[in-house]
Parts: sequence; structure tokens; C-alpha cells
Amino acid sequence: MGKIVVLGSLNMDLVMGTNRLPQIGETILGESIDYMIGGKGANQAVAAARMGNEVTLLGCIGTDTFGDKLLKHLKKESLDLSHINRIESIFTGIANIFKLPEDNAIVVIPGANSFVDEDYLMEHVQVIEEADVILSQLEIPTETVAKGLRMAKEQGKITILNPAPFNRNVLGLLPYVDVITPNETEFEGLIGRQVESDSDLEEAMLAWAKENRTTLIVTRGGKGSSYVENDQLISLPAAKADIIDTTGAGDTFNGILASELSSGVKMMDAVAMATTGASLSVAKFGAQTGMPTRLEVISKLT
Ligand code: RIB
Ligand code: NA
Repeated sequence: MGKIVVLGSLNMDLVMGTNRLPQIGETILGESIDYMIGGKGANQAVAAARMGNEVTLLGCIGTDTFGDKLLKHLKKESLDLSHINRIESIFTGIANIFKLPEDNAIVVIPGANSFVDEDYLMEHVQVIEEADVILSQLEIPTETVAKGLRMAKEQGKITILNPAPFNRNVLGLLPYVDVITPNETEFEGLIGRQVESDSDLEEAMLAWAKENRTTLIVTRGGKGSSYVENDQLISLPAAKADIIDTTGAGDTFNGILASELSSGVKMMDAVAMATTGASLSVAKFGAQTGMPTRLEVISKLT
């Protein structure tokens, strides 16, 4: 069994259903509000845990009722939550999600997630020492992610970075990253320009991978995913899905990928599992609700 540590955020997702986004200065009436548990760190940890490997989540929440609610739900997963710190002086992270008919737009207020700092990391070095794979994202301070990935890399672990939400400081982290998993927009951030077409994307991926010693996987929504290994671009299609909610699809991909790689699965098979798992996850409302078990992914694959 592989061991994964997810270093990341936990958020309460306030999901506002609306047919469109308001313009600047405009007020509109929306359709619904739901309180769901989320945060890229928590989501990716849950996705990995459902694959049946050992997962520890490192992160911080507040002592407020949102924090209680997050813990209560996460306890239903087979996840090690014993290293999560509760910070008294601040609120639990909040994601304001505008859920549009086909997509979503999100604003995150980090709150307690910004307390995932160097001190916190140093208190939990042992967790990283015991893991096979470390997986992180950018809803906690970038310096913490850099330090965590560097420590893990020096110890010969597999390091995975989901560069979301994107910021330019990511470039400084690349020496410690074995696998990077941007979506198309985040990949544009990585290369510093917009991508014009599918073939432009593919050429840009090949060029980027040649220049950087990091395995590049781009998640492409309904189109599946593409990755570069040994100067070759391989694309895997998404499975057919009824789209109810795409929130957390990328997180599902990352959690499954980390879990598969932790137990020594080959890149091609790990990406195939992750791509199919992400397609399955969009069939239910909420970031974590639709995340499949390993068996569900396998039976969809074959
Ligand atoms: O990736 C989806 C997640 O992004 C949501 O759960 C929300 O918390 C935001 O962080
Ligand atoms: Na979903």
C-alpha cells in the first residue's frame, strides 16, 4: 500500500447557483445556496483516500462551526486528520463558488489556510518522511509548498504540484516538482501566453517539457488529459459523463494520480485512472460527493 501526504487547503464551499455572473455594478437574483465541504487540499486527499491507499492531510482550519462541519464530514473518509491544526484567531477558509449551468467561477478567502506556514510544516516533517508521494496546490502560502516539496524531493519522494490557483511564483518551485498538473488556463500561466488551438497547446506542451525536467500533465476538462513523457505527447480521452457539477474534477484527477503513483503504477496507467475518475466525479453535485472508489474507476475503464 502506498502512502500519500496532501499538503493543502480546507474550505467551506458556499455554492451559489446562478444562470450567469453579474456585470460590474450589477445585482442579480440567483437560484440556490448550498454549503459543501471543499478546498483543493481536502478534495485531493478525499479522492486519494477513496482509491484505498493511506492518506494524511496536512492543513489548518479555524475553531468556528465551518471548521467543525469540515472535520465531521472528512471523518467519514479513511483519512488521517490527526495533524490538522485548529487556529483560534481566524475563520476557516471559504470558497465562494458561482455555479453556472455549465461551469463555475470561484473566489477563495484563505483564512486559516494561510496558517499553513513554515512552523506548521516543521512540526510535521515526520509525516512527509513517512510518505511515498507528496501532493500540493497553491491555496496555502507558496513558501510552505516550496519548502514541503523541496524536503520531500531531497528524501527521494515523488512530488506532485497542482499549480492552482496559478501564480507566477510557481516557476521557482519547479526544481522540486516531479509532476506538474495544470489545467489549460494554468498552463497558459506557466508559458506566459495564451494557447490558440489544440495543436498549439500540444506543441507548447512538448516545448515546455523539453525545457523543464518535470513531467507535464495538462487536464483538459471534457477533452480528457494530455501528458508528455520522453518527448512524446500522449492524450487520454475523458469518459462520457452527465455533467451535474465540475467543481472538484481537477482535484479528483490529482488525488487519483497521487494515489496510483504511490503504489508504483506506471504513469500511463495512473493518468488513465485519473482521467476516468475525474469524468465520473462530475456526475454529482459538490466537489467531493461524486469522487469514485478505485473499483468504480476500474469498472469504467474496462
Ligand atoms: O478545486 C475546487 C475547490 O476549489 C473547491 O472545493 C473550492 O474550495 C476551491 O478551493
Ligand atoms: Na462533482
